[in-house]
Amino acid sequence: MLPPVPVVIGVFAGVAALVNWSFNWNKEVCDKKWINFNEEGLKKDIQTKLFGQHVAAQVILKAVTGFIKSKNPKKPLVLSLHGSTGTGKNFVSQLIAENIYKNKMRSNFVHLFTATAHFPHKAHIDTYKIQLPEWIRGNVSICPRSLFIFDEMDKMHPELIDSIKPYLDFYDNLNGVSYRQAIFIFLSNAGSTMINEVVMKFWRDGREREKIQLKDLETELSQSVFNYKTSGFWHTSLIDKKLVDFFVPLLPLDYKHVIQCGLTEMAREGRVPDKNVVKKMADDLIFFPKEERVFSDQGCKHIANKLYFYI
Ligand SMILES: Nc1ncnc2c1ncn2[C@@H]1O[C@H](COP(=O)(O)OP(=O)(O)OP(=O)(O)O)[C@@H](O)[C@H]1O
Ligand SMILES: [Mg+2]
Repeated sequence: MLPPVPVVIGVFAGVAALVNWSFNWNKEVCDKKWINFNEEGLKKDIQTKLFGQHVAAQVILKAVTGFIKSKNPKKPLVLSLHGSTGTGKNFVSQLIAENIYKNKMRSNFVHLFTATAHFPHKAHIDTYKIQLPEWIRGNVSICPRSLFIFDEMDKMHPELIDSIKPYLDFYDNLNGVSYRQAIFIFLSNAGSTMINEVVMKFWRDGREREKIQLKDLETELSQSVFNYKTSGFWHTSLIDKKLVDFFVPLLPLDYKHVIQCGLTEMAREGRVPDKNVVKKMADDLIFFPKEERVFSDQGCKHIANKLYFYI
């Protein structure tokens, strides 16, 4: 015998409610379930996964932790990461995102812009200048704890950088939206020549790399970025208005860091890490200075792909 109609309707309604509930339960929203800073996790990740970057490690950990724990920040956190290729700029940004957002880099509240991919045409700069601030405003109004990562900052048009400047400043709110919980991370190669020179000088003077401190680099770094003619920072007032809270230098990686990256990569691929294999690969990489072969020209970039030839 068929069940009475009200029972069938009741069952359908129940199933629909359950589906709706499970959909909403899994839907990322701007609350503590989805955004929950893991201070210990970030510390552990930076200490164990990020190689050869003691200066950046210390600055980033303090800056991010201090900012997120602050009850009443006066402005958004603005970090500018500088270093040559493959030193870990994207990698460390990823570690930050992973320890704030449950959905990591896939979170709807994490926005990665790459200058050449998102803003490729100079001719469209006027459109970008409208779209980008609007995107930032829209997203911060949905979720104040949003993370914006701008890659290839040195290739961003200065006018485009200028267009986001108000959001990095000390305003209480702009048109009813407060940006004080947001985090902006700029990545670039600008200043890397100067960073590499300082690190090389330490090495030539026989001084330990670990003795390099932020103060050995920070002032010169902001100066050299400012004077870097092809850099997007050029003639913008990001620097002279002091909107960047920390200039973070990433040091060139040396032989032992490349080995560490290779071993990590093998483990990540589910293989038994084999030092001989990784050494063979490292021996074929380019290091500078040419004679002494101390610093890796491409950092740890491309190691994942190169390793296959040596396994
Ligand atoms: N310091 C590091 N410690 C551990 N792994 C690293 C480090 N630097 C780079 N890597 C590894 O190399 C890969 C490439 O590095 P990443 O993309 O962060 O370089 P980048 O500094 O952004 O370079 P580019 O200037 O070319 O964009 C990372 O995904 C990571 O696996
Ligand atoms: Mg990068």
